[in-house]
Amino acid sequence: MSPPLYPLFFFFLLLLLSPSFSAFLAPVRQDQKTSLYTLSVYLKTPLQPTNLFLDLGASFSWVDCTQNYTSTTYHSIPCNSSLCNSLDKLACSNCFDAPGPGCSNDSCALFPENSATRKVLLAQALVDTLALPLTDGRNPGRLGLVREFVLSCSKTPLLKGFPKGTTGLAGLGRSNFSLPAQLSSIYSIPYVFALCLSGSPSAPGVAFFGTGGPYYFLPEIDLSKSLIYTPLILNPVGSTLITYYLHPSDEYFIGVTSIKVNGKALELNQTLLTVDQNGSGGTKISTVAPYTVLHASVYKALTEAFVNESAALNLTVTDPVKPFSVCYSAEDVLETRMGPAVPTVDLVMQSEDVFWRIFGANSMVRIARKEVDVWCLGFVDGGAKARASIVLGGHQMVDNLVQFDVGSRRLGFSSSVLAHSTTCANFNFTANNNLDL
Ligand SMILES: *[C@@H]1O[C@H](CO)[C@@H](O)[C@H](O)[C@H]1NC(C)=O
Ligand SMILES: *[C@@H]1O[C@H](CO)[C@@H](O)[C@H](O)[C@H]1NC(C)=O
Ligand SMILES: *[C@@H]1O[C@H](CO)[C@@H](O)[C@H](O)[C@H]1NC(C)=O
Ligand SMILES: *[C@@H]1O[C@H](CO)[C@@H](O)[C@H](O)[C@H]1NC(C)=O
Ligand SMILES: *[C@@H]1O[C@H](CO)[C@@H](O)[C@H](O)[C@H]1NC(C)=O
Ligand SMILES: *[C@@H]1O[C@H](CO)[C@@H](O)[C@H](O)[C@H]1NC(C)=O
Ligand SMILES: *[C@@H]1O[C@H](CO)[C@@H](O)[C@H](O)[C@H]1NC(C)=O
Ligand SMILES: *[C@@H]1O[C@H](CO)[C@@H](O)[C@H](O)[C@H]1NC(C)=O
Ligand SMILES: *[C@@H]1O[C@H](CO)[C@@H](O)[C@H](O)[C@H]1NC(C)=O
Repeated sequence: MSPPLYPLFFFFLLLLLSPSFSAFLAPVRQDQKTSLYTLSVYLKTPLQPTNLFLDLGASFSWVDCTQNYTSTTYHSIPCNSSLCNSLDKLACSNCFDAPGPGCSNDSCALFPENSATRKVLLAQALVDTLALPLTDGRNPGRLGLVREFVLSCSKTPLLKGFPKGTTGLAGLGRSNFSLPAQLSSIYSIPYVFALCLSGSPSAPGVAFFGTGGPYYFLPEIDLSKSLIYTPLILNPVGSTLITYYLHPSDEYFIGVTSIKVNGKALELNQTLLTVDQNGSGGTKISTVAPYTVLHASVYKALTEAFVNESAALNLTVTDPVKPFSVCYSAEDVLETRMGPAVPTVDLVMQSEDVFWRIFGANSMVRIARKEVDVWCLGFVDGGAKARASIVLGGHQMVDNLVQFDVGSRRLGFSSSVLAHSTTCANFNFTANNNLDL
């Protein structure tokens, strides 16, 4: 090799030795009172830690702008701008009664919605700085900035029903302006994110953005290796309060084709399991539901089969505890590594060998208060008019890795990571300052 090439050679060697990762993470905590989840980010300039209610189905994020919004980097979005035109859920408005930082006449507006109470506002859209820790999938590193993050302003009453300490909502839906979508377009990283919800009140779970893996959990287990995939299904009709002509839903739907209890398929009305042209039916994944909500006929079939199968384990139902209807005395139930020993519930997808297995740790809820100590089947009856027939909720996702690969239109799921001898609370949040990110 001729001498002039040496510097170039070392330059490439360095590139090889220090891969540059542009993936992000955020801690995810469960609120004990509401059982809902909170995502922690940094917002504004100077950066301020901000807790947002995690909403998988929301199209964009919003914050309460009426309390103390101080930042040196915000600006509103002029109504006539290309950015405003690309926000397809838009309206233009004058500076109405919300004196927020985004308030200026002729500015672009959005409709922030509280998906827990189903309330909506018209409010100014806003641009400000957001930051999240970069990650190599093993630890957090330094913060990565998103300088022109688009969100919406809102007012304090819209926070009603959210976990205490939250000042807004993190929208993770399949839109062009959700948090993962903006990270993806600004950093040119894949539109994919993964959630691992923790069931521990003291140790948070984690969300990864912009990377399909690895996702390391102590002791050195890469959970991306245990994912199996099913297509994400487009629901042609959104369910938000403000619906837009021909705008499909930004929520995540998957194709559950049958449900099995201890391996035996329930007899279900197949029509209910498919999304129809009006957007009804099918299976949605939602962090707004603390427990999975089932259409009345699916609920009836599941509970009957579950009671039947657990009778074979000598389990006899006891008095129900609301909102649940099938409960067993805790002293009758054996506990295993996978939670209480009860029949398994499988959500079968596109083929018999692609199923999400729900073990006792995710199917059952322990209720211990004075005079009562029971394990209840943690599914609730959504009635005969339920829009989605299955709304897979937070409790069923705890200690499961769930990957939303929007770019490839597929969902990856691990089933319980307890089977891999780890938990979602086992991510190592100690910052690694030696990471060359
Ligand atoms: C506004 O911010 C200041 C400084 O950060 C803080 O001391 C004050 O309590 C905040 N007020 C409200 C209502 O949040
Ligand atoms: C919008 O922009 C166009 C071209 O820049 C300009 O001619 C028009 O007056 C603007 N409209 C408003 C309402 O500002
Ligand atoms: C906004 O427009 C209203 C009239 O529509 C006017 O009274 C008000 O002064 C304007 N505000 C600003 C900040 O330009
Ligand atoms: C989202 O962005 C893509 C690429 O920029 C674009 O093709 C698509 O039309 C946008 N979707 C909506 C709903 O605006
Ligand atoms: C199945 O569900 C659909 C949609 O709710 C309903 O119209 C139909 O009558 C049901 N079929 C049976 C056999 O119950
Ligand atoms: C969709 O809604 C329309 C109008 O409400 C109704 O006539 C039609 O039967 C519905 N289609 C399905 C598949 O439910
Ligand atoms: C419950 O078990 C009995 C007897 O094993 C059987 O006849 C019945 O069909 C079962 N019902 C359900 C809903 O699985
Ligand atoms: C259920 O109880 C009966 C009678 O006590 C016993 O013979 C049987 O082994 C038990 N079955 C299981 C699965 O524990
Ligand atoms: C967590 O990560 C830090 C930083 O890389 C490392 O020093 C520490 O040993 C890790 N903890 C465990 C339990 O592996």
